[in-house]
Amino acid sequence: MRLQDKVALVTGAGLGMGRAMAEVFAREGAAVVAVDLTPGDVNETLNRIDARGDCCALTADVSDSAQVARVYAEVEARYGRLDVLVNNAGVGTAPNDGYDKFYQRLGELNAQLARGETPSVHLDHIVDMQDDGWQRVMDININGVFYNSREATRLMIKCGARGSIINIASTSGLNGTGAVHYCASKAAVLGFTKCLARELGGRGIRVNAICPGATNTRMMADLDPEYAKTITAAIPLLRMGEPVEVANTALFLASDESSYFTGQTLAANGGSHML
Ligand SMILES: NC(=O)c1ccc[n+]([C@@H]2O[C@H](COP(=O)([O-])OP(=O)(O)OC[C@H]3O[C@@H](n4cnc5c(N)ncnc54)[C@H](O)[C@@H]3O)[C@@H](O)[C@H]2O)c1
Repeated sequence: MRLQDKVALVTGAGLGMGRAMAEVFAREGAAVVAVDLTPGDVNETLNRIDARGDCCALTADVSDSAQVARVYAEVEARYGRLDVLVNNAGVGTAPNDGYDKFYQRLGELNAQLARGETPSVHLDHIVDMQDDGWQRVMDININGVFYNSREATRLMIKCGARGSIINIASTSGLNGTGAVHYCASKAAVLGFTKCLARELGGRGIRVNAICPGATNTRMMADLDPEYAKTITAAIPLLRMGEPVEVANTALFLASDESSYFTGQTLAANGGSHML
């Protein structure tokens, strides 16, 4: 019961890692606020969690600051405090971001290699990325982190919590594997984490990041299977991570066991990127 008496908000808790975090946090005694864009999924999370505490599910788009503010007003009204925020909601792709053409070229490139030809196809994904495709990924992956962290910090200060903010970044933000919008947004999350850790350290609020590698969720299932196979083959542990393995890392950062960690990045990635 490492999160006994704590209120923990997890964004993107309708599926994948966010759902696993909601389950693990509730098992450890937290009152979990599960937030997601998709009401059906987040209600299913609430049904699944072993709710010893007073858990709830809320629907909001993290890229909309007014919707985010409403979530924290509800949290304050219901619990009067907040101890843990996990900024987990994120997307790897968005309409008009050029992934369709990228996969088409990747197929052609692999076919050339299979025929033993010198490749003449280039994977210059950026040329097909439209403004709105770029913008949507940035809106969710970094603006959403800002909106939630701002509201969470206000509430943590108001209630005097020595809280923990955990930002789910990605190995893509460290080593540039993936598309430019995703890598840029996740690198931004890491910079944001370090700055906020410095700002809030004096209040006893800790801010850390997790960089998962390829993890077995819908996000990976959405990738082209051949592309996903290449990614997995390059992981030293030779398998994708499971959502619960990232959730256990988040549990450590949420709990008092990590009381001297702030501004740090924990890489739950099977060795795919070594810090
Ligand atoms: N799966 C991976 O291989 C992997 C690797 C590294 C980092 N990550 C990061 O981990 C986090 C979780 O990813 P996942 O793999 O569990 O993905 P997922 O697609 O399984 O789940 C993401 C959840 O976020 C929600 N969401 C998306 N946009 C939202 C929005 N605007 N507002 C509120 N909720 C929203 C979705 O509805 C979904 O429930 C993301 O930040 C992702 O970038 C994933």
